[in-house]
Amino acid sequence: MTLYRATVLDVPGDPFTDGPDALRAETDAGLLVRDGVITARGPYAELRAAHPGEPVEDLTDGVLLPGFVDTHVHYPQVRVIGGLGMPLLDWLERCALPEEARLADDRYAAAVAEDFLTGLAAAGTTTALVFGAHFATATDVFFAAAERSGLRITAGQVVSDRVLRDELLTDPDRALTEGRRLIERWHGRGRLRYAVTPRFSLSTSDDLLAVCGELLEAADGVAFTSHANENLREVDRVRELFPGSDDYLDTYDKHGLLGPRSVIAHNVHVTDAELDLMARVGAWSSHCPTSNASLGSGLFPLRRHAEHGVGVAMGSDVGGGTGFSLVKEGLQAYFAQQLLGPDGLPLTSTHLLYLITRAGARALGLDDRVGDLGVGKQFDASWLRPSPGSTFATNLAHAEDAADALAKIFTLSTPGDVAAVWVGGDLTTASGGRPRNPSTAPSSRPKEAA
Ligand code: GUN
Ligand code: ZN
Repeated sequence: MTLYRATVLDVPGDPFTDGPDALRAETDAGLLVRDGVITARGPYAELRAAHPGEPVEDLTDGVLLPGFVDTHVHYPQVRVIGGLGMPLLDWLERCALPEEARLADDRYAAAVAEDFLTGLAAAGTTTALVFGAHFATATDVFFAAAERSGLRITAGQVVSDRVLRDELLTDPDRALTEGRRLIERWHGRGRLRYAVTPRFSLSTSDDLLAVCGELLEAADGVAFTSHANENLREVDRVRELFPGSDDYLDTYDKHGLLGPRSVIAHNVHVTDAELDLMARVGAWSSHCPTSNASLGSGLFPLRRHAEHGVGVAMGSDVGGGTGFSLVKEGLQAYFAQQLLGPDGLPLTSTHLLYLITRAGARALGLDDRVGDLGVGKQFDASWLRPSPGSTFATNLAHAEDAADALAKIFTLSTPGDVAAVWVGGDLTTASGGRPRNPSTAPSSRPKEAA
C-alpha cells in the first residue's frame, strides 16, 4: 500500500446537471492506494494516523488531478501535428492521408506508435479512444505498444472502401476477417479494448458499414467511434452519397452503430433531429476544439447538446488538433462557448475538469473504474507541479479558492507541468517512469516503476 499526500481536485458528479458544486477539492488530502485501487480518502493527518507504517508519496507541491481521458485521437497522425491553413478535406488529402499511408511499413508504424503513446502520457492522459491505422498489422503493432505502455487504450483498425487513396482502402470481407482477428487478440486484454472505427461515412460504403455492425456484435463491450458533421463540405458530400438517409448520423444508425458505447467526433453541424437520436440511444459527442478552430470547422454547439441531454466529452484530435494537452482543449472549449455569445454555454473551470476526466470515462463506459479519485476507483492520476518562479506557480499560490486554482491550471499550465502520471497505481513507463524535472523534484519522489 502507498499513501499519497496531495491537494486533490476532481469532479465525481456532473456539473452540467449538478452545478458548480460538483467540484471536490481537498487540500492536504490522503489517498491510500492498494493494488492500484484507492481504498481510503480523507484528510492526510487522519489517514496517516490510521496507517502509520505505510510509505508516503509526498505530492504536496502542486495539484493532483484524475488522469485525463482523450475520447478522440489518431495514432498515425502524431507526426503531422501543425498542418495549418487548410479546411478538413484538403488537410486530409495533403497532410493526414499521405502520412497514414506510410504506416504500411510496420517498422515505421512501431516508431510512430511509440511517439504517440509517449506524447499522450506526457500530457497527463491515462485513458484514450484511439483511431488506429488503416492497416491491420499497423493496428496490431499499436495495440502491442499500448499494452507495454500501461495506458488504458480503446482502439480499432480504421476502415474505408472509397474516396481515399487506394492503399488505404479495404473491402467488406477483408475488414470483417481482420476486425474479428484484432478483436479476438486484443479486446478485453489487460487495459485494452476494441472500437469499431469506420473513418467517416464519406469514405465508407453501406456494405462496409454493415460489416462494422457485425463487428460491433462480435464481443461484449466493443465500442463504436467515427467522425460526423465536422465540416459543411463533408456534410454535403455525405448527403449526396447516401440519398436514402435522413442525415449524417442516420448513415450509422441504419447499421445499428449508435448506442451508449458510441462516440461521434466533432458533431459541429449536427441537426436537432440527430441530437434527438443521440439522446434516445445514449450516444456521446467528442468535442475537439483546437481541431475545430485550426481546420475552420466551426464552433461546437454545446448548449444544444446539453438541452437535448446528449453527453459531451473531449478529444485532442491529434493531428488535426494542435497537440495532446487536454488542458489546452478545455481552455479552447471555454473560448468556443464565449465566441458563440448567446448561443454558447458559459463554462466554469469545474465544467472543464469534468469534460477532460469524468465525462470521457462515462463516454467510454469506464466511469466505474476511472474519471475521479474517489474510493474504489483506480489510481489513475496526473500530478501537475509548476516550475518554480513560473507565472503558473505564482498564480496557483495566490488562487482564491479551488475553482480559481483550477482556472489557473486551465489558462496557464502545459504538458511541461505534468510531473508524473499513474495508471492503476503504476507510474507510466510511457512518460519515462519517473517524475519530470528531477533536478527540482521534491525529496520524497514517487517510486520508480519496477
Ligand atoms: N474525418 C475523417 N478523417 C478525419 C481525420 O483524420 N481527422 C479529422 N479531424 N476529421 C476526419
Ligand atoms: Zn479525428
